[in-house]
Amino acid sequence: MPEPAPSLYSRLSENPVGEQETNLRPPDFGEFCGQEKVKERLMLMVAAAKQRGDVLDHVLLSGPPGLGKTTLAYIIAHAVGRNLYIASGPQIEKARDLAGLLTRLEEGDVLFIDEIHRLNPAVEEYLYPAMEDFRLDIMIDQGPAARSVNMRLKPFTLIGATTRSGMLTGPLRSRFGIANRLDYYTMIEICRILTRSAGLLNISITPEGAEAIARRSRGTPRVANALLRWVRDYAQVRSNGDITAGVAEGALEMIDIDTDGLDEMDKRILETLIYKFGGGPVGLSSLAVALGEDASTLEDVHEPFLIMQGYIKRTPRGREAMPAAYAKLGVSMERAGQGELLL
Ligand SMILES: Nc1ncnc2c1ncn2[C@@H]1O[C@H](COP(=O)(O)OP(=O)(O)OP(=O)(O)O)[C@@H](O)[C@H]1O
Ligand SMILES: [Mg+2]
Repeated sequence: MPEPAPSLYSRLSENPVGEQETNLRPPDFGEFCGQEKVKERLMLMVAAAKQRGDVLDHVLLSGPPGLGKTTLAYIIAHAVGRNLYIASGPQIEKARDLAGLLTRLEEGDVLFIDEIHRLNPAVEEYLYPAMEDFRLDIMIDQGPAARSVNMRLKPFTLIGATTRSGMLTGPLRSRFGIANRLDYYTMIEICRILTRSAGLLNISITPEGAEAIARRSRGTPRVANALLRWVRDYAQVRSNGDITAGVAEGALEMIDIDTDGLDEMDKRILETLIYKFGGGPVGLSSLAVALGEDASTLEDVHEPFLIMQGYIKRTPRGREAMPAAYAKLGVSMERAGQGELLL
């Protein structure tokens, strides 16, 4: 067996956040709170494949960052009892990299490709026959010596994750069975996740303390766990270590997260939209330049929550501030509409 190409895998273990997250990652469907519909579908698919003794169909997971896509990939691989290999779209630069990944898979193994919408188009072409027929046609050499080598692959399961399902190409999307979209979690679900994490980390937390953190977690387990760690530190130094509602509120105030879960960047987005662009509509790229932020980060990371909470909306002409945004900043919508608030 040739050694695996380490460069494609090393990132995960080098990433300390990744390791911390691993500790809190629910290991099976039973401990994975929320996303009931997606979970039920996946459990059914796994059960059916197991009954038939078949390899699980390819799975597409989409949704904003931190909602559990990678976690579900681990859970699925665990449920089918196979190896999981993890790669990320932009890291697979050449067909050769993809071939290296695919040829080491044993029957039924799971290959997780994160950020699959960022796959190099040339690489993506190779993925189509691999997904459909478990076959890889690789061209070697160039010019007159060029020849195609056909390799048979063992049947495997591809799990693709994307924060931008809209950016997937049609051919790629159609090669996945059903698309699974993860949504923001409810307060109750986030409270359950926080209570579970607190248990694992040996943190004492009251239900009200959990609720205070959940309210500011943007419906996102990753944010909830990160805030929990911060509040734990605060509780330890400023109090007796127990997380009560009061302790949680003090801690979160200290890092400028308001009661609606908006952070500094969210507030800057709303301010820019209203004070610089009169509430919009303004194109994403102009907004991004004004904020000094990358347009795709703005679109993938910050906007979904603001849209979900009704602060802004996406229109064909650009981003527009909604009444909730004016209320948040405490300014009048009419005055903004008349250009009176422009800086
Ligand atoms: N349903 C859940 N129950 C409990 N914990 C969860 C759940 N979903 C996610 N988490 C926690 O949130 C963290 C982030 O989840 P994960 O890494 O799977 O997100 P992701 O969707 O892959 O994000 P990204 O798009 O940034 O890669 C995990 O470490 C895990 O501990
Ligand atoms: Mg992930």
